[in-house]
Amino acid sequence: MRCQSLRLIQIRSFQDKTIEPAEDLTLITGPNGSGKTNLMEALSYGSTGKSFRTGSDGEMIRLGEDEGTILLTYTVHRVNQEIKIRLSRESGKKIFLNETPIRRKELVGLFRTVLFTPDELQLIKGSPQNRRRFLDMEISQVSPRYYEEILRYTRAVQQRNAELKNAQISGKKPDLDLWDMQIASGACYIVRKRLETISKMNETVPAMESILTENREKLEIRYLQQGSGEPRFDMEWYLEQLSSRREEDARFCHTSIGPHRDDCLFLMNGLDISAYGSQGQQRTAILSMKLSEMEFIRKETGEYPVLLLDDIGSELDESRKKALFSFLMKNKVQTIVTGTEILSDGGKVIDLGNNE
Ligand SMILES: Nc1ncnc2c1ncn2[C@@H]1O[C@H](COP(=O)(O)OP(=O)(O)O)[C@@H](O)[C@H]1O
Ligand SMILES: [Mg+2]
Repeated sequence: MRCQSLRLIQIRSFQDKTIEPAEDLTLITGPNGSGKTNLMEALSYGSTGKSFRTGSDGEMIRLGEDEGTILLTYTVHRVNQEIKIRLSRESGKKIFLNETPIRRKELVGLFRTVLFTPDELQLIKGSPQNRRRFLDMEISQVSPRYYEEILRYTRAVQQRNAELKNAQISGKKPDLDLWDMQIASGACYIVRKRLETISKMNETVPAMESILTENREKLEIRYLQQGSGEPRFDMEWYLEQLSSRREEDARFCHTSIGPHRDDCLFLMNGLDISAYGSQGQQRTAILSMKLSEMEFIRKETGEYPVLLLDDIGSELDESRKKALFSFLMKNKVQTIVTGTEILSDGGKVIDLGNNE
């Protein structure tokens, strides 16, 4: 995967700005507020159809403008592609692949990226939703079917909850059989894929961690399934769980079992890193996870994704940064980094200066 160019027209602080990242390492530099993260946000948006900074697309349109455009050209397995995203205050967003309109769910998985930002600590410190989204987006980037299943599953849960609500209002018995079937079948697929992915990541995490730190901890991801000690992903178990929880679920109008309630834990030497790890260890752990996500994507698709590292300067000391970049260069991972200082490792420098 290679990003050839990124053009922002009336997006964030940019009127019209094009960057052409190098094949290997690119450093985007400039003082605070010069738009470095804005560029990373746009690259990541081209990958996921969503901003990592805001839930409102309107915020990304340049102040005073009604429309903004992100234009991304890239190659996947040596084939040139172009993604265009038009954001409009009035008519929302429109996505095009090579000038053909596509939906957001068709965008996910086209331009594959792995993103690391200082906010990533949320992965450890934040709510389970952050961790589920991390896993779901990782798998969706390599499996369009997975993304479809997540959407379908989420709808089924919403419909089951709506049926519970209606029944509560009307005083009738809720009719849940159809939704329980759909939820159970989606849950089996989703949980199986998540477990497979975690087990593949656990194989590469130690190697990634050893690039980043000398005092090697034993890092591991563990899936936490609601309602079960041992992971279960068969229809029978889910149907049984859903059925035995009907009374409670009816009271709260929710669905208390399923992958939308699961979580995962990051363990360091067997202990929950959110409780026992220092801030520095947590950051290194997350970066190791991200690198292992990158390896996972390469194994599944045959190509490395583009690695986006926002503000990595403060995360690692000089020698670790060197080790990381030499690993990335050796493996020809296209890496785009932002920072206020120039890295000593070469690569192309894009200086945003003060004038953007
Ligand atoms: N919608 C917008 N329209 C115009 N300017 C914006 C918009 N959103 C953010 N900005 C500006 O972008 C700048 C922040 O850019 P950012 O990429 O976060 O900087 P940094 O280089 O520190 O990462 C701020 O000056 C902010 O005012
Ligand atoms: Mg920034």
